[in-house]
Amino acid sequence: MSAPVIAVEDSEEQAHFDALIDADLRIEPRDWMPEAYRKTLIRQISQHAHSEIIGMQPEANWITRAPSLKRKAILIAKVQDEAGHGLYLYSAAQTLGITREEMTDQLIEGRARYSSIFNYHTPTWADMGAIGWLVDGAAICNQVPLCRASYGPYGRAMVRICKEESFHQRQGFEILLELSNGTPEQKQMAQDAVNRWYWPSLMMFGPTDDASPNSARSMAWKIKRFSNDDLRQRFVGMCVPQFEALGLECPDKNLRFDEETGQWLMSEIDWSEFDAVLDGRGPANTERLKRRREAHENGAWVREAAAAYAAKQSAKDRIAA
Ligand SMILES: [Fe+2]
Ligand SMILES: [Fe+2]
Repeated sequence: MSAPVIAVEDSEEQAHFDALIDADLRIEPRDWMPEAYRKTLIRQISQHAHSEIIGMQPEANWITRAPSLKRKAILIAKVQDEAGHGLYLYSAAQTLGITREEMTDQLIEGRARYSSIFNYHTPTWADMGAIGWLVDGAAICNQVPLCRASYGPYGRAMVRICKEESFHQRQGFEILLELSNGTPEQKQMAQDAVNRWYWPSLMMFGPTDDASPNSARSMAWKIKRFSNDDLRQRFVGMCVPQFEALGLECPDKNLRFDEETGQWLMSEIDWSEFDAVLDGRGPANTERLKRRREAHENGAWVREAAAAYAAKQSAKDRIAA
């Protein structure tokens, strides 16, 4: 690429911004930033927040049917963590000048994206294991480098989120391990769930590098640190020994490590499925948005009560002052 990727404006402010990025320092809400950097972050952080919130649905589906009290308690805690992740991220996005209401409207009106992975169904208990192991596992690979993202509030939110994601991943692995060591039917149920989630979890890293035009700019801004394909490679490498430990088979029969290139060679991902789900034609897109809209409407009284309480408190504070 011949033109500089970042410097679109020739100003003192731009030079200061570039210097902060070059020095691996953080951009904070008080700092000047290029409009495109702000917009990219608002899009990425709000999509990430929406994914956490919509991501509560496929697992909440199993809270009332968890096989034991212990599993139920763990699953409730996990789903609650995801709500917390959504809240940290909405707060981080708000520091960039968008309101929570705007982001919520974008989501419930179907104008915003969220991770395509949450548009799949969870027909069995083993899906809770596969989601924790594969989906939270892929999220960790994506998100650990984001702890170093150049935008301060985003990076700091990610540190806390990643700690919780690793608990999520382990609880999923443990569900699968127990099923895999159970009856032949339980083992088959674990294998079927892994077969359902393996490919969609690889799609979570996004399109291949040559089909991902905005990646280079995000990397130059140090929002993103590794390319989609590099992260996907890292994830597959992490899964291989874990498949063995679980005693389950990887659904990709062609998967092998190429010593020469140091890369995992995998079967072609079905990108037409990814495009369809992104485009709103996945198995559960309509259901997920409908549920979110209902939850928003049913929660109106809570928002009104909280606003009335806050107004009363601030009136009291004014009198006291
Ligand atoms: Fe999360
Ligand atoms: Fe999670």
